[in-house]
Amino acid sequence: MSVASAPGKIILFGEHAVVYGRPAIAVPVTQVHADVEVTESSHPGIWIHAPNVDLDSELNTLPSDHPLAAVIHNLFFSLGIPPHPLPSLNGRGSKGEGFDITINSSIPVASGLGSGAAVSVALVRALSSALGRPLSDDQVNAFAYEIERLHHGTPSGIDNTVITYASPVYFIKGHPIETLKVGRPFTLVIGDTGISAPTKQSVGDVRRLWTKNNLRMEQVFDEIAQISLMARRIIECGQPEMLGELMDQNHAFLQEMTVSSSELDSLVRAARTAGALGAKMSGGGRGGNMIALVSPEMAEPVSRSLLAAGAKRTIVTQVA
Ligand code: MEV
Repeated sequence: MSVASAPGKIILFGEHAVVYGRPAIAVPVTQVHADVEVTESSHPGIWIHAPNVDLDSELNTLPSDHPLAAVIHNLFFSLGIPPHPLPSLNGRGSKGEGFDITINSSIPVASGLGSGAAVSVALVRALSSALGRPLSDDQVNAFAYEIERLHHGTPSGIDNTVITYASPVYFIKGHPIETLKVGRPFTLVIGDTGISAPTKQSVGDVRRLWTKNNLRMEQVFDEIAQISLMARRIIECGQPEMLGELMDQNHAFLQEMTVSSSELDSLVRAARTAGALGAKMSGGGRGGNMIALVSPEMAEPVSRSLLAAGAKRTIVTQVA
């Protein structure tokens, strides 16, 4: 048997601008996670059980572009392992036996918390180990990035990176990975609009805006780059209360990019009114989640206000 788990994530600063080479900051959210278990079974074939998405099927009955099937097919291909006859798990057992892959995830889908990347990372880790060919973090990350590319065209790679390394990252597309030292822990409340919004769509809309109004969008991305840079220094110096204003500024730029929504805006307003030090949407936008920076004692009242303002659920998380 082989098991692996990967956390969710949120983007603190720089979403969308990061697709255009600007820096962004993301942190793991361990309160939600994707868990994968690979076990030998007596029935033939590779069976995938993913109760969250109502899936209980043999691999070969799924279309090859099915997100989970794509990960498994690509992994076999990359490892140079032919799927027929089935390889033995961990070099044990006789070839030709089947196995079960069980996927459970508490990360809401299409909500900006990285559910797709987390499932890819956990699945690749569990399956490569089960096949006796465990991959390094760098290999897992590169693999998960390729899967992200299949699903949303021009990903920056920030989601798979923060999830693979399960550590705060300061991320610039194409640059070596920089994990971030957090000078003093701080608390965030995450508010879920409950509206699922595919990242591919908002990333595509920003691309159209960038093509149409290139000069202004480049200025916006440059402003956001400055925000990410300042935020990095503030986080490392241990003065997190200063992040609030930067979050408010970043949110205004995301509104200008048209990726916020009335639901996100009203949760952001509710958090600020309830005493958050700053708030912004997080991730692809149009739905999904927003985040609010709070002092630890304000986490509960801000969380209550978000629920009263329509959030479907909240998560309180510490960045440490
Ligand atoms: C999605 O979590 C973050 C975006 O910046 C897209 C990306 O970086 O690939 C919106």
